[in-house]
Amino acid sequence: MRPKQIPPGVDLDRRLRAAGFDDQILHLGQGLGGVKIVVAHPLTRQDDQRRIEQMRADFVANASHELRTPLASLLGFIETLLGPARNDVAARERFLGIMAAQARRMSRLIEDLLSLSRIELNAHVRPETPVELGGIVAHVCDTLGPLAQDRDVAIEIRRPQEPVYVLGERDELIRLFENLVENALKYGANGNRVEVAVGIERGGTPAAVVSVQDFGPGISPEHLPRLTERFYRVDVAVSRDQGGTGLGLAIVKHIVARHRGRLGIESRQDAGATFTVRFDLVDVPEKIPLKSKV
Ligand SMILES: Nc1ncnc2c1ncn2[C@@H]1O[C@H](COP(=O)(O)OP(=O)(O)O)[C@@H](O)[C@H]1O
Ligand SMILES: [Mg+2]
Repeated sequence: MRPKQIPPGVDLDRRLRAAGFDDQILHLGQGLGGVKIVVAHPLTRQDDQRRIEQMRADFVANASHELRTPLASLLGFIETLLGPARNDVAARERFLGIMAAQARRMSRLIEDLLSLSRIELNAHVRPETPVELGGIVAHVCDTLGPLAQDRDVAIEIRRPQEPVYVLGERDELIRLFENLVENALKYGANGNRVEVAVGIERGGTPAAVVSVQDFGPGISPEHLPRLTERFYRVDVAVSRDQGGTGLGLAIVKHIVARHRGRLGIESRQDAGATFTVRFDLVDVPEKIPLKSKV
């Protein structure tokens, strides 16, 4: 392989990436005089192909595992109800409750898997309808009102007087903000407060910005880079307890990407978490019919 020219600069990782080296960088440690010794090779098409195949295999294995667990529990309870607990009325009541919860979990998972594949299918088609983001976010906060009340969390929403238009798919944007606000309500409940802000940033390319901030336990830094991976959860038991599927933030990432937006996650242990989404702002002349007047 021909050696590649690595551009000068301070940040070695960034320079390597600029020269076309990707994830396969092996840091071998510090050499003489603190010089970092690096062995790297750029990703070939074959590596890419292999990585995609590996990801697909992992995904199918994870999805099957997630479905198999509640299914095994359902089958177990059915056998018990047909056998030893056949005439036990109290046990039947209790088991049916658990079985219903397991079936709902499977149905949520299938729902999320289907939306993920639908969004992926349209990944290359950028939405072209102007929609008003402030109304969409307010609508999401309204629909999550009962959950907020149940968790004893107050949702505070701030939005500008003026409308905030972006090019978007209304249903997908609702789903995106539902996931973020729901996470804040569930995982950050002990902060008792969630702040949702819609705003406009004017410097450079004008952007619409939505942030969802909670004051719960936060997320420690080592988890942040992997948070949007399918089925990645900081604590699987806590997520399951909250009815999570581990697909929410993967769905968020794909919706943001389809809208050519940017997703930022900031968090520190014990200091809550802030999820921020930015989209290009669009001017909407009066004559364009708006699909989203919420
Ligand atoms: N606001 C938050 N505060 C703390 N942890 C969070 C927050 N949002 C997400 N997480 C963590 O990220 C994980 C992945 O989130 P998500 O993809 O929505 O899956 P799910 O909620 O179904 O588990 C969650 O299981 C949780 O561990
Ligand atoms: Mg979630």
